[in-house]
Amino acid sequence: MIKIAPSILSADFSKLGEEIIAISNAGADYIHIDVMDGNYVPNISFGPLVIKSIRDKTDKIFDVHLMIDKPERYIKEFVDAGADIITIHAESTVHLHRTIQLIKNFDVKVGVSINPGTPVNNISQIINDIDMVLIMSVNPGFGGQNFIEFSIDKIKEVRALSKSIDIEVDGGINNETAKKCITAGANILVAGSYIFNGDYEERISSLKD
Ligand code: DX5
Ligand code: ZN
Repeated sequence: MIKIAPSILSADFSKLGEEIIAISNAGADYIHIDVMDGNYVPNISFGPLVIKSIRDKTDKIFDVHLMIDKPERYIKEFVDAGADIITIHAESTVHLHRTIQLIKNFDVKVGVSINPGTPVNNISQIINDIDMVLIMSVNPGFGGQNFIEFSIDKIKEVRALSKSIDIEVDGGINNETAKKCITAGANILVAGSYIFNGDYEERISSLKD
């Protein structure tokens, strides 16, 4: 089963509540929420307060993607705000294993993301401790960038390490790149600009096909 996770980074923030409802009704499986701190990535988005304010707009899974330095400092805040999945970047925390355990101690799922420049090998030691691997197929920080083709090989590599783990791909996903990711073994696709720049329902179902 392929799941689609629209990234609200491409939503209209002036009516965020309505956007969450619209994207939920259009068939989103997860709501992908990009948190950026202007330090780990060269952009600033929003934090737990904003997430909390949209929590009651939908029952969908809140898939929180933390692009922040030392995410261990804020896990409780994101859990309290309503996160169901918390994904941290392998490069953002010195003690990756410890931070994973910290997240698991709350009742939420844990994902680990790797940037285009980070080899899959960096997470091989902890792969059995986590629920999801998030392969970044662009350098994190902005929506609307082009898909980096070698990400396909990384998806295959992760799938070879685990048959059952969730593999999410994030960045430059459209109906063409989605096909390649699914064939390579991904089962969750994040898409921001592709979905929000069109008819939400049509775009979500075109990714699923
Ligand atoms: C980038 C974010 C993505 C972004 C994807 O740092 O993690 O979730 O919103 O946007 P598109 O789908 O437009 O590449
Ligand atoms: Zn993301």
